[in-house]
Amino acid sequence: MVGVNIFRPGAVCAALLLVAVALVGGPAHAQGDVERGEILGNTCLGCHGIPGYRNAYPTFRVPKLGGQHAESLYLALVEYAERRRSHATMYAQAATLSDQDKRDISAWFAALGEPRTGRPATGARIERGREASAVCAACHGQNGISMNPEWPSLAGQHESYLLHTLRQYKSGERQNAIMAGQVMMLSDEELRDLAAFYAAQVGLFTPTPRRRN
Ligand code: HEC
Ligand code: HEC
Repeated sequence: MVGVNIFRPGAVCAALLLVAVALVGGPAHAQGDVERGEILGNTCLGCHGIPGYRNAYPTFRVPKLGGQHAESLYLALVEYAERRRSHATMYAQAATLSDQDKRDISAWFAALGEPRTGRPATGARIERGREASAVCAACHGQNGISMNPEWPSLAGQHESYLLHTLRQYKSGERQNAIMAGQVMMLSDEELRDLAAFYAAQVGLFTPTPRRRN
């Protein structure tokens, strides 16, 4: 099915139009106080600051937040608090934060650094994923760095986390109208290809705690 999608210029145009509208309209800014965010967000590094740290069950790596857009981080926290994304620990984290707390922590994570650059990994599955990603590029960027700060960058994110989220959009466990429509027609094999492609790109990173002497 994905082959049909890639070569359907209408779909790509519609998505590009969405990007244009969103950019002209201006994103809802998640303005936050970086210093306050650091104080509030330090505990988050207990999981998000440990490279390769795993979620126990189901097993996947805890997402990289370094290099992610503040707006996208903020929206994710709102979605956990509203249970549109299901994850017990992240619900517990997000539900106790005020709206301003969420904005401040998001601003702090975003201030930890720009997406990394470098040479992406290659391979057969990654190539298949690249081809399948043509329909995703209008929103997530050609190499997984999204142009609209409300849409998450995917470049360099952990493969197991990407696959986990794609399957959740498909099962409806994570509720998002846009992404549900994107994955609906894709096979599990195609989801694997896409996760491999984005994980092989360079961008997001695990922020490690800074030591102050
Ligand atoms: C016990 C470990 C743990 C702690 C502590 C934790 N997280 Fe998470 N976080 C996770 C896991 C696991 C996920 C992936 C959940 C899922 O499957 O949706 C996640 C997902 C996220 C996401 C979504 C990322 C994306 O790419 O969509 C954000 C944003 C986030 N966490 C922010 C925070 C913030 C802010 C804090 C501190 C207030 C925090 N987390 C504390 C484990 C943790
Ligand atoms: C019209 C814009 C649009 C298109 C096209 C699109 N996405 Fe998304 N994507 C989004 C938005 C918005 C979100 C955030 C949704 C949420 O909060 O759960 C998202 C979230 C994701 C996530 C979760 C990231 C994270 O950090 O939690 C993955 C993975 C993803 N998209 C992959 C894809 C793939 C693969 C395709 C192509 C098959 C695609 N997307 C096409 C807009 C888009």
